[in-house]
Amino acid sequence: MMPPAVELTVSKVREALWHAEARPEAPGPTRLLGTLFHQTVAGLLAGPQAWDAVLDRDSLDDVPALVRHAYERHFGPCLSAEESKLQENGAELLATWEALKNFCGWLSRLLEAANKQGWLESRDWLVPEKPIAREFHRPGWRAPVRLLGRADCVLRDPGSGRLLLVELKLGSGPDAVHLGQAALYQALLDPSADIALVRFQPELVERLVAAQELKEAREHLLELAARLAGVAPPAPPSTEIYEELGKKLIRTLDTYGLQASLAGAPVVGPAVVRFTLLPGRGVTVNRIIARAADLGVRLGVTAPLIQVEDNRLVADLERPDRQVVDFSRIEEALREPDPLQGSAHVPLGVDLDNRVGAFSLADADSPHLLVAGTTGSGKTEWLRSAVAALLLSNTPETLRLVLIDPKFSSFQELDGSPYLWHPQALVYPAEQALTDQLDRLIEEMQARFVRFREEGGDDLAGWRARTGRPLPRLICIIDEFADLMADRRTGRAFEDRVARLGAKARAAGIHLVLATQHPDRTTVTGRLQANLPVRVCFRTATWQQSMVALKQRGAERLLGKGDLLFSFKGTLRRYQAALLGEEDRRRIFRKGIG
Ligand SMILES: Nc1ncnc2c1ncn2[C@@H]1O[C@H](COP(=O)(O)OP(=O)(O)OP(=O)(O)O)[C@@H](O)[C@H]1O
Ligand SMILES: [Mg+2]
Repeated sequence: MMPPAVELTVSKVREALWHAEARPEAPGPTRLLGTLFHQTVAGLLAGPQAWDAVLDRDSLDDVPALVRHAYERHFGPCLSAEESKLQENGAELLATWEALKNFCGWLSRLLEAANKQGWLESRDWLVPEKPIAREFHRPGWRAPVRLLGRADCVLRDPGSGRLLLVELKLGSGPDAVHLGQAALYQALLDPSADIALVRFQPELVERLVAAQELKEAREHLLELAARLAGVAPPAPPSTEIYEELGKKLIRTLDTYGLQASLAGAPVVGPAVVRFTLLPGRGVTVNRIIARAADLGVRLGVTAPLIQVEDNRLVADLERPDRQVVDFSRIEEALREPDPLQGSAHVPLGVDLDNRVGAFSLADADSPHLLVAGTTGSGKTEWLRSAVAALLLSNTPETLRLVLIDPKFSSFQELDGSPYLWHPQALVYPAEQALTDQLDRLIEEMQARFVRFREEGGDDLAGWRARTGRPLPRLICIIDEFADLMADRRTGRAFEDRVARLGAKARAAGIHLVLATQHPDRTTVTGRLQANLPVRVCFRTATWQQSMVALKQRGAERLLGKGDLLFSFKGTLRRYQAALLGEEDRRRIFRKGIG
């Protein structure tokens, strides 16, 4: 008997398409404007304040009236609600408004054409927010896949009779994503139809994709969906390309007079492939390490990280077919939450042996953490997957968060979450607000110590075990503290508070996670370093920054996008961080919100 279909949402597939293109996500305000655009357009297509609230059969060409209506009923009100977040984004705001005006013109022309066909009364030629679902099955799949989604707007073009898929989105994207997306909707709606994609960036761009053109993309896409749904095995990595790469590495070293051989088979991690090198007679390790940049150029890859690990010389080369690690890998590895003790485990990512790694903030040696790495290296994404794992393995009785989010976008979805320590614990600073938050944590630490002394228990876990009562662990995450350190006065105030929490807070169940783009001595001062024993370091801009973050070089050779070195008690391990997709993020971050 055929097993039941595995459900998969269209947005998961779309996310995977974006990841495959390795495109950075838009910054917060740009995303917010995208949402406002989407809401306005959706409101004009359907609902009580749709186009027909201002236009009738005789005035379909009155674009100014439609534009006014769009502003007064939709865009304007949304805008004033979000004003504070968009203050510095005047140019993007204008572009969004231009796009909306273009949309109004486009809609007016469309309505006129529909009117000529006598379609205006029947609404089924234009279906906004159309829910779509379809089941697919291919030989070799363990089960069928049921794809579910909602198309922004599907319509039959009154002029050409073509199926139009209107994507209510701003801006452009990579072609492969558009094509994949078109194939996806075509598969769901009508596999024989040509599809036109319409987007506003901010001018109207319409692209017709012929059914034939989509055929190949569609099969490719269904394979991707099957892998995402877990009904088809992951594409087997062929080791040939890595063996070839290893031979090339040895040959290239030889051209520099550095004889070496490979010890054992390459180890293939998600992002890099690791070769263990045996230097020939008279060849020193340092001479090989010093050639990293040359090797990168000659092999056509990012300069490899070459280092001694466990008394072996290893060279990590960028995988030509680098893989994204989905957060589901982390989620699978999480344990059932313990209702009294919760969990303080923070996932790191997947190591070179493809094992999920984690460390515990509750351990005496790892209570506080520094996260460092240049812009775009993956700090925020890592923090998000750490938060997601903590939310999944705790209840608000065992864990609470204080989140300082200077970019307004890292933890937005946690607004109103029961996992926030208090209603103001999601902070978009004001420097003052930040020191206040830390003061509040210090007060809480002291109150907890009084409590533990009176009621027994050396630390949070001990007190919980002894009393059987819940008390949440508190984790304060600051996703960029360099601005604070730039000013001497606020810098000192901040350092003082970190130092006060540093030595003792762990026992009270209070932890700091501090992230920065600028691991320089002026930002990560000696005092801060002394209080942040664990380091998660992404690609740094310079080797000097690597020295600050890890006490050794190497991070400047990481690949970015979640490639990280974890430093703990003098040992260093490389991981690929997992990526928490938008859909998972919403699901997990909104946990417990009504
Ligand atoms: N683990 C990951 N897997 C795949 N891609 C990733 C990963 N982490 C980050 N990326 C990609 O890199 C982009 C930048 O990541 P992120 O926003 O986390 O950088 P950042 O270090 O916080 O940068 P900034 O200092 O500018 O805030 C992401 O939008 C994503 O496209
Ligand atoms: Mg960031």
